[in-house]
Amino acid sequence: MEKQSHKIPHIEDIPKPDADFVGSEEGAATHKDKDAIKIDFRVKPEELETYLSKYIVDQEEAVEVLATKICTHFNRMRLEIEEEVTSDVALGNIKSNILMIGPTGVGKTYIIKLIADRIGVPFVKGDATKFSETGYIGGDVENLVRDLVHEAEGNIPLAEYGIIYIDEIDKIASAPNAWGPDVSRSGVQRNLLKLMEETEVDMKVPHDLASQMEAVVEAQRTGKATRKKVNTRNILFVVSGAFDGLIERIGKRISQQGMGFKSDVGLTSGEKTELLKQVATRDLIDYGFESEFIGRLPVTVTLNELNEESLYTILKNENCAVIQTKKREFRAYGIKLDFKDEALRLLAQQAALEKTGARGLLSAIERVLIKFEKKLPTVEVKDLLVTKELIEKPEKTLKEIVFEHILSKHSNTFKEQTGIELTYHRDARKKLSTIYDREGSGLDSHLQEALKDYFYGVKLMGISRLVVTRDVLNDPKGTLDRLIKEAYDKKAD
Ligand SMILES: Nc1ncnc2c1ncn2[C@@H]1O[C@H](COP(=O)(O)OP(=O)(O)OP(=O)(O)O)[C@@H](O)[C@H]1O
Ligand SMILES: [Mg+2]
Repeated sequence: MEKQSHKIPHIEDIPKPDADFVGSEEGAATHKDKDAIKIDFRVKPEELETYLSKYIVDQEEAVEVLATKICTHFNRMRLEIEEEVTSDVALGNIKSNILMIGPTGVGKTYIIKLIADRIGVPFVKGDATKFSETGYIGGDVENLVRDLVHEAEGNIPLAEYGIIYIDEIDKIASAPNAWGPDVSRSGVQRNLLKLMEETEVDMKVPHDLASQMEAVVEAQRTGKATRKKVNTRNILFVVSGAFDGLIERIGKRISQQGMGFKSDVGLTSGEKTELLKQVATRDLIDYGFESEFIGRLPVTVTLNELNEESLYTILKNENCAVIQTKKREFRAYGIKLDFKDEALRLLAQQAALEKTGARGLLSAIERVLIKFEKKLPTVEVKDLLVTKELIEKPEKTLKEIVFEHILSKHSNTFKEQTGIELTYHRDARKKLSTIYDREGSGLDSHLQEALKDYFYGVKLMGISRLVVTRDVLNDPKGTLDRLIKEAYDKKAD
């Protein structure tokens, strides 16, 4: 069992859905289930931290806490199974559910997703604004648990060790307003609270005929009543949000405690993050959360804003998802995409202005490359090097690239078929460039037409290099005749 492998350690021996998992109609994780599940979670906090640091830039503190707490969570799960802790005993335990505070695009979802992948547990992401208290409008928080089962390909015991990530949690804060506290938001908090604690979620959505039918069909197929309920006791919950306005509350509390804080106006982003890190339960309750809800989130993590330098570091990282994705997209057209360092600098600069964290990188790159992504596959350009100039003047650079590509394509074909080097005179280039301005890729057939007789003609001349001049373009036939004649005259001399 101790054998070293580069494979992600995972929960072993979890039966597939059609394995011997039967009939716990009541739904509770029965003892039989537990015997079948052996969590083999060997990753240690520092190992997970090292793994994450390969991908995550500038969030050392958050990564440290998350790696540690999530590792401990799964190791504890393993211990409980080994010691056969039953539900009752375990009840006194508090799960390390996590609250993440941080602006958009700084790695909140990314970190948790990476951890779930590394450990090999299913992961689902939901948005707190999509839920309503009754589940009629939008959805029911319980759907997250059902999604987790789908994510686990129907393997309920595995889903019971999954991670549920809920974004925009700050939007269900129910700060009292002119009409009193928002009752429906507190309702969503209470529903979530139940999930975070321990509850049984029925896989059949009440009043949903389709899911009931599915259960019947499944029972007929397997000849067994399949298990339909999911226990949420061991599911790890991670909730996150940007928490606009929270800094002011923290600041106010601190100044009331006489620690000299006036206003957050003029604070640098680093100072703001430092302030956010001092968040206390009281601030979150003031913000509009039920104390029971906050009580179920014992781990709080604050993420840094990403400045230009961090964004540049992200782009330079060999595991950078943004760059890798873009390269793969171009490779799909047979184009090798590369970036000069100066280009990465500039992209980071542009992205920083957007204030959307690393998300700004993606939009900056998309904005620059979209025209290339459209054009280059048609003209069959095989390489693209993104330079500073390309980013500053994408349209102009694209034109130049395609233009040069058409010219060199003709030189290459000419060389292949005749063995003769074909170059373009400066005047001819000018003319070709005006044609290109007018006709775009039509320049290709224009050149083809102008040069068609030269493939044979040049063989009569005994030359090793042909310069395409303005004359060649203006009067291909006449010029060819003249060139051949000149060659013969020369020979005769
Ligand atoms: N700190 C980081 N290091 C490396 N890459 C990052 C970092 N933060 C974000 N990214 C990149 O940006 C993408 C978007 O980040 P992510 O989805 O984690 O944002 P988020 O913090 O969850 O934001 P939101 O609040 O908008 O959901 C990631 O997929 C990743 O490629
Ligand atoms: Mg996110």
